Amino acid sequence: MNRDFEFRQLLRAYRSGVISEETFEQEMANLENGAEITNGANGAGGFRAFGKTYANEREAIIAFIDRARVAESNAGVAFNNWANVCKTDCIRSGLRMISERESYHGRMFERRLRDLGAECRATLSDDSRKFAETVSDQALPDNEKLLRFNKLVPDPEAAVKPICEFAEMIKDDLETKEMIKLFYEDELSSTKWLQYACAALNAPAQAGQSAQAQASA
Ligand SMILES: [Fe+2]
Repeated sequence: MNRDFEFRQLLRAYRSGVISEETFEQEMANLENGAEITNGANGAGGFRAFGKTYANEREAIIAFIDRARVAESNAGVAFNNWANVCKTDCIRSGLRMISERESYHGRMFERRLRDLGAECRATLSDDSRKFAETVSDQALPDNEKLLRFNKLVPDPEAAVKPICEFAEMIKDDLETKEMIKLFYEDELSSTKWLQYACAALNAPAQAGQSAQAQASA
């Protein structure tokens, strides 16, 4: 596999939170040392995804949908909490729709995991827990929550691209492949809407700030 491509894939996986800093650093070191990188299409070297090498495609799928199951279920609760304390009418039902999407992703991934005869093992990451705490906070204004989300996910397309790339690499389990492709579309839609809402709700304040800065310059 082209090394630049491998590097970009690794960076995207790290930036979007799919792999930890530790895994990112370890895989970067492997790249720098010229370790052999096997293609996700997978030969004897295993199945390569999200900067890690799995024994085979099935193991990579189970690891991915187990992690996604936990993160999505948590986000479903988090967005519902946000909607319940939301003081901005125009975004409340959008948050509820995202909450439903996240929750059903969690349920579908759990179901698929069971179909595959695998157990639910993944636990909630600290980042997911902190995100839920932040958006559930009644004292934090909606526009500030959107700004914080925007900081976490500055580029929606880049953030969700590893999901699409993973789906493309799946050759045998076509049922999960198609499920992950739909998951990608949902995630792209949700993150783009949150980015748009952030821009809309923060535009007047930011315009005011820059006007003030210009006046005092
Ligand atoms: Fe999500």
